[in-house]
Amino acid sequence: MKPLLRLFFYLGPYRRNLAFSIAFMLLATATTLVQPRLVEWVIDSGVGGGDGRILGLGILALLGTATAGGLLHLTSGILVSYAGQGMAYGIRNDIFRSILDFSFGNLDRHRTGELIVRNTSDVNTVQMFVRMGFMLMLQSVAMLVGSLAMMFAMNPGLARTMLFIFATTILLFFLLASVIRPLIMRVRERLDELNNTLQENLAGAKLVRAFARQSHEIERFESRNQAYLEVALKVGYITAMAFPFLFFLGQIALVAVTYYGGLMVVRQAETPLPDQLTLGQLVAFNEYAMLAMWPILALGMTLQFMARASASATRIVEILEETPDIAEASHPQSLAETDHSIELRNVSFSFGHGEPALSKISLRIASGETVGLIGRTGSGKSTLAALIPRYYEADRGAVLVGGIDVRQASLAELRQKIVLVLQESLLLSGSIRDNIAYGLSGDNHDRQAAAERRLQRAVELAKASDFIREKSGGWDEPIGERGAGLSGGQRQRVALARALVRNPDILILDDVTSSLDAATERAVMANLYRELRDQTVIIISQKINTVSQADRIMVMEDGRIVGTGSHRELLAENRIYREIHETQNGELRL
Ligand SMILES: Nc1ncnc2c1ncn2[C@@H]1O[C@H](COP(=O)(O)OP(=O)(O)OP(=O)(O)O)[C@@H](O)[C@H]1O
Ligand SMILES: [Mg+2]
Repeated sequence: MKPLLRLFFYLGPYRRNLAFSIAFMLLATATTLVQPRLVEWVIDSGVGGGDGRILGLGILALLGTATAGGLLHLTSGILVSYAGQGMAYGIRNDIFRSILDFSFGNLDRHRTGELIVRNTSDVNTVQMFVRMGFMLMLQSVAMLVGSLAMMFAMNPGLARTMLFIFATTILLFFLLASVIRPLIMRVRERLDELNNTLQENLAGAKLVRAFARQSHEIERFESRNQAYLEVALKVGYITAMAFPFLFFLGQIALVAVTYYGGLMVVRQAETPLPDQLTLGQLVAFNEYAMLAMWPILALGMTLQFMARASASATRIVEILEETPDIAEASHPQSLAETDHSIELRNVSFSFGHGEPALSKISLRIASGETVGLIGRTGSGKSTLAALIPRYYEADRGAVLVGGIDVRQASLAELRQKIVLVLQESLLLSGSIRDNIAYGLSGDNHDRQAAAERRLQRAVELAKASDFIREKSGGWDEPIGERGAGLSGGQRQRVALARALVRNPDILILDDVTSSLDAATERAVMANLYRELRDQTVIIISQKINTVSQADRIMVMEDGRIVGTGSHRELLAENRIYREIHETQNGELRL
C-alpha cells in the first residue's frame, strides 16, 4: 500500500483538478441519492393522493436531477483524467531519470524488458487506478454511506437488517482481496519474464536465425507464456467465481427488503401507525438497497484494481528508490584546474563474487602521456579502463585523476574530462551527424561554425570522412538501430569521431581499431599519436602493432600489470609481451 501512496504525491500539481473532480463526483452522488425520495413523493402524494400536479412536478424534478448528475459526472471524469495522465507523465519522467542515474553495476542487474514494462505498463496501471479505482472507491463509499443514512432516516429497523447483509458482503470482499493480491504480483513477474524473452529475441533476431534456433526460442517463449497464462487464469477464475456469489448476496438484500418492508406496508394498511412504511417508502427503500449494493460490487472491482496498482507501484518505487552504486560525493571536488594524470593505487576489483578481475594494480600515467595497454583476451583491460571514469568502483585501493580521488570528484566533470570509447561501438538511431555531434558538449551548440569545424576535424582524424562522403545521404545518412547500415569498421570510426569531437583531456580507446584493415588502422593511429599531444591517451589492444608507438606500454595478464616499458624494452625483458609478439609475427608470416 505504501508505494501507491508515495506515487499519489505525483498528483500534487493537479490537486485542484482532483479536488474539483471529487467535489463534482460527490455532488453527482447526492443527486442520485435524492431520486428515491422524489419517487416516494410521487407515489405517496402524487399517485396515492390522486394529485396530477405533484406527479408532473415530481417527474420534472427526476429529469432535472438525472441531467445534473450526468453533467457533474462528465466534468468530474474529464478533470480526473487530466490529473491521472499528469501523474503518469511525472512518474514516467522520474523513472527515466532514475534509470539514467544507474551506474554500470545497476544496469548489469536489470534487464531491458523489465525496465520497459515498469516505465509503460506499470505506470499505466497506476494511472488507471486513479481514474477508475480511486474515484470509483470514493464514489462507492459515498453512495454506500449515503444510502444507508437515508435508509436509517426512513426506517431504522429495516435499515439494520440491510446493514448486516452489507457488512457480511464487505467482509467477504476483503478476504478475497487478500487472496488475489499476491497472485497479481506473480502475474506481473511472469509478464516481465515474457517481455524479456520477447525483448531478447527482438534484439538478437539475427542471431536466432543465424543459428536456426527458432524452434528453441519458440519453445522458450511458449513455456514463459504458459507460466503467465496459469497465474492469469487463476486470478480470472477467482474473480469469476466471486462476482456471481456477491451478486447473489445483493439479490438476497432485495428479497429481504421486499419481504420485511412488504409486511410493514400491509400492517400499515390494516391499522395506520405514524412510524410504519408507506408504499412509496417501500419503493424508495428498495431503490436505496440497490444503490447500496452496486458500490459493494464496484468496491470488489476497485480492490482488484488496487491490488494491481499497488503491485505496479511497488515495482515503480523500486526503480525510483534504487540508489545508484555510484553516487556523487556530498562535496564534490572540481577537476577544472587539475592536470590530466591518472594514478591507480593498489586497486582490486571483482564483478560480484567471482574471481577478481583486477588484483592490486598500481600505476601512474603522467599528464599528456600516451600509453598502450596490451594483454590477452580476458586479462582485464576493459575492466581497468572502466574504473578510470568511475563506471565501476574499485573494491580496494584508489583511482586518482588529476591527483583527485575519483570518489571525491564531480561526476559530470569527471566524464567531461575523460572519454572512454567502449570496445563495442554503441550507436544511436539517427543520422551520422547526430551520432557524431552527440559528443559535442552543450556549450558548443550555440557556436555553429566552431562546432562544424570540430566535427570535420574529428572525422578527418578518425578517417571517417571518405566513407561518409560515399554514402548517398552523406552526413545525413540515417543509421538504423544499433548502427545497422554501417560496417563494423565504419561503426568504430563513427564512435571514435564522436569521442574526438568532445576533445577530452583524457581519451581511453578500448580496442577501437579492431575491425579496421591494417592500412586504415595505421593511418588512424598515426593521426592520434600526432594530434593528441596535450591529452593523456590510453590505447587498449590485443595487437602489438596498435600500441608499439606509444610512449610506454603496459602488459596485463590475469588482472595484473606484469610489465611496463617501451616496445624494445618489453621485447627484451617481458615473456608475455614476447609471446604475444611471436604469435602475431607468426600470423603475419603465414
Ligand atoms: N560485466 C561483467 N560482469 C561479470 N564479469 C565480467 C564483466 N565484464 C568482464 N567480466 C570478466 O572480467 C574479466 C576481465 O574482462 P575484461 O573485459 O576486462 O577483459 P579484456 O582484457 O578487456 O578482454 P578483451 O581483450 O577480450 O576485451 C573476464 O574474466 C570477464 O569474464
Ligand atoms: Mg576488453
